Amino acid sequence: MNEPLVLGIETSCDETGVGIVRGHTLLADAVASSVEEHARFGGVVPEVASRAHLEAMVPTIQRACDTAGIALRDVDAIAVTSGPGLAGALLVGVAAAKSLALALDKPLYGVNHLASHVAVDQLEHGALPDRCLAMLVSGGHSSLLLVDDITLGVTPLGATIDDAAGEAFDKVARVLGLPFPGGPHIDRAARDGQITIDFPRGLSNRKDLERHRFDFSFSGLKTAVARWIEAREASGEPVPVADVAASFQEAVCDVLTRKAMDAAISNNIDTIMIGGGVAANSRLRALAQSRAEERGITIRVPRPGLCTDNGAMVAALGSELVARGRTPSALDLPADSSLPV
Ligand code: KG4
Ligand code: ZN
Repeated sequence: MNEPLVLGIETSCDETGVGIVRGHTLLADAVASSVEEHARFGGVVPEVASRAHLEAMVPTIQRACDTAGIALRDVDAIAVTSGPGLAGALLVGVAAAKSLALALDKPLYGVNHLASHVAVDQLEHGALPDRCLAMLVSGGHSSLLLVDDITLGVTPLGATIDDAAGEAFDKVARVLGLPFPGGPHIDRAARDGQITIDFPRGLSNRKDLERHRFDFSFSGLKTAVARWIEAREASGEPVPVADVAASFQEAVCDVLTRKAMDAAISNNIDTIMIGGGVAANSRLRALAQSRAEERGITIRVPRPGLCTDNGAMVAALGSELVARGRTPSALDLPADSSLPV
């Protein structure tokens, strides 16, 4: 028998994503982003995101089906992000998925956004090992998670206690005068810069490590960068944007990779999966790779397009739920903005 054909819908933030997979094979990954509509506000505006999802939903489903060369009735199951995320944005995806499931008489699977950021890696690198560590770093979350069976959920080891890593990239980009979302711009600017400024590494001193060994904090770092720039401007000297970008990026990537290695080694884990938008960062990928190699750890990072929010990740987790015979969700599945992992 053919592996099941699963359609996944993602609307937790500003990307309307519709992905179609068969087993671990990606057939389509259509994404419509409202990011440009949010750019002038310097962050995602929930109301704008919800309306954009409504407008993009049907055309994006159509585009995914066309790319995969399938008709909607061929689909065996519908998966959708039911949380966490922006409430109004989630509602659009959940309503669309329920309508499809009802109209096509197919099972519906509500999935957790964080777990699908992990599951997506299977589309690129095949089945996940029985046990691995996932580091999810995006605009909304920065977490270290223990993953045994992705269809049963994940166990949080630590998370940010203030800003998410991507949020810090976006805020620092703003003070540097770079456009939103700032992560890719800082990544690019940093390539021409030197790591000349020693910015603070959050929750890394001995006392903090006792209580927050696997947690992160990026708010102090963001403030330190803003203060450094203010002082520089007050002195009348130009701000060395590329050097500030490289030094800030190093502070984030140093802490992330150090804690990820510590979490993996102390839990006897030899594979670290990195996901979420910040996993697209070139310095994070390089530093994780070199630190992991020194310790005999394998790093798995999906290609950048699969790290940021998309529908393929939802379909990937849905496909796993179908393959393992998990019970589908009821048709009154709620959208839960603070769904725990
Ligand atoms: O996973 P994602 O698309 O959406 C959320 O769930 O948040 O992540 C978006 C975040 C933004 O903060 C963006 O600035 C960051 O990922 N990002 C990056 C890079 N590409 C995207 N951060 C650092 N370096 C990058 N190359
Ligand atoms: Zn995400």
